[in-house]
Amino acid sequence: MGDNGRGSLLYIGIETSCDDTCAAVVADEKNVLSSIVSSQHDFHRPYGGVVPEVAARQHIRLIGPIIQEALDDAKVSLSQISGVAVTTEPGLIGSLLVGVSTAKGLCLGCGLPLVAVNHLLAHLQSVFMSFEDVPLPHVNLLVSGGHTILFLVNAPGEASVLGSTLDDAAGEAVDKAANLLGLGYPGGPAMDSLADEGDPSAFRFPRPMARRKGYDFSFSGLKTALAVYLQKYGPPESAQHVKDIAASYLEAVVDVLVQKTLHAAHATGVDAVGVTGGVAANRRLRHRMSDACGNAGLALLIPKASYCTDNAAMVASLGAIYLDAGRNDGLHIDARASSRLPRWEVVEKTQP
Ligand code: KG4
Ligand code: ZN
Repeated sequence: MGDNGRGSLLYIGIETSCDDTCAAVVADEKNVLSSIVSSQHDFHRPYGGVVPEVAARQHIRLIGPIIQEALDDAKVSLSQISGVAVTTEPGLIGSLLVGVSTAKGLCLGCGLPLVAVNHLLAHLQSVFMSFEDVPLPHVNLLVSGGHTILFLVNAPGEASVLGSTLDDAAGEAVDKAANLLGLGYPGGPAMDSLADEGDPSAFRFPRPMARRKGYDFSFSGLKTALAVYLQKYGPPESAQHVKDIAASYLEAVVDVLVQKTLHAAHATGVDAVGVTGGVAANRRLRHRMSDACGNAGLALLIPKASYCTDNAAMVASLGAIYLDAGRNDGLHIDARASSRLPRWEVVEKTQP
């Protein structure tokens, strides 16, 4: 066991909950020495989405070399590591099992403590990794290909769910639209670029759940609206037509995300809003969220793109807090496809 020469213990983080094989080394919760991400997009592209068995098999091939790369990049050896953090939930079960088994092997072989990390709480941790004096509590919109969830974040590793998508995640809805437009997989970045040159008011797509009370989302109807449009009018007639559709579609997604997030911020009385997950890279979302937060006097906290998408640095960072506090979940930890975080309840004050 060892440290980084400045007294902090060194920890490894492992993340394999979906289709990215990730390992990182941190010296403490903010000091990331290495963060390696191996994306499997090329393997899933022919299928237009993540194929669970393909993902699990690819994790098995890559996890060893990726951990070694993370150690090499951090210029440390395994003998200097003091603990391991691994994502145990939620995610694709076959993918999670690869990371959890690997972490157990490392801890068994090296006699290290092991902590289980919730993938969603790890995403929220990316804000604490990236900013000093993060206001608490704050609202965080986690928006990715697998999740669209509004959280009230009370502390690192402590959050309750305000609302979440009832069907497709926002990133999934964008990917499905890109697929319908023949833009390849994952189509979010392509939609973003095309939308930049399109007219967001050219077509009126539905704003699902926008007028509903509460903080839940629903995006599956949006994709259906585009499919119906393309069925009725046929494929786009020009490059500009595709750009206008992309811009209008993203505008509908962004409208709902911004509106619900701002409502949540007002209802909870927070001073800050965080945005994490792969869709946080979307320029229109960043721009609109920045305007809305600016007008409402809210601080906006969006980590750099490599900490918004899936990565092991966020897992190691949250794991470092657990390990520094002396926690050791031991070799009996399990992987779970779903996770249950507490829901935020409005506490009705009754008159005495
Ligand atoms: O967090 P992430 O890397 O992986 C998980 O889903 O867990 O998020 C990937 C999602 C995909 O749906 C992708 O299309 C979307 O984020 N995405 C974007 C952009 N970059 C990535 N969506 C819109 N605009 C972008 N620039
Ligand atoms: Zn994720």
